[in-house]
Amino acid sequence: MTFAMHNRVAIFSILVFVIISCEGTSGSHHHHHHLKSLHFSLYQHETINKTGYIIVNGVEGGAGVTQTTTPFGTLFVFQDPLTATANRSSKLVGTSEGTSITSSFDGLQSISIATLTLHLKNHKGSVSIVGGTNNIKPSDHPIVGGTGDFLFVQGYVTSSPVDLKGLTVTYKIEFHIYWPPYATQAS
Ligand SMILES: *[C@@H]1O[C@H](CO)[C@@H](O)[C@H](O)[C@H]1NC(C)=O
Ligand SMILES: *[C@@H]1O[C@H](CO)[C@@H](O)[C@H](O)[C@H]1NC(C)=O
Repeated sequence: MTFAMHNRVAIFSILVFVIISCEGTSGSHHHHHHLKSLHFSLYQHETINKTGYIIVNGVEGGAGVTQTTTPFGTLFVFQDPLTATANRSSKLVGTSEGTSITSSFDGLQSISIATLTLHLKNHKGSVSIVGGTNNIKPSDHPIVGGTGDFLFVQGYVTSSPVDLKGLTVTYKIEFHIYWPPYATQAS
């Protein structure tokens, strides 16, 4: 092969690559357009010493135990009901089970790991989330996966405090769930 011919082969290869890449981009664009998704809100109610407990005490000398703070290192475990509206007596549509570990010295932030089991009208299963929670501000938690009708899902949930007074605190949980193309093909 001559040098000139070598060059032509190389240019041809690059062209083919560029064409395939362009098709790839428009292809994924197409999928993105048809991405199945679900957006809704539920309310999580947590009653201290009833649905949520401090299992391991955090370090002493810093932030104390208040409605919104727990000492650094506190291990908290919960199994909270998820209802359709902010009223605790409204329809039960799921549970949130998980644990959080206080991770800021001011006691306001924690790392949360939870499985949210959902019994919606058309979708049953669970989504698992992990992320940082701020006790007094909205927090986004990435969805790391799911089971049942939520197998392979991605997205995030936003947890926002609604009512932090009293023995039962309430958080609004906004779900933004996306099924990747291979998940909708499998179901
Ligand atoms: C929850 O239980 C712990 C341990 O028994 C107790 O120290 C704490 O005061 C209780 N909290 C409330 C709000 O009842
Ligand atoms: C919550 O729901 C119950 C039962 O449906 C109702 O009796 C009560 O008035 C509601 N509370 C509020 C604050 O809306």
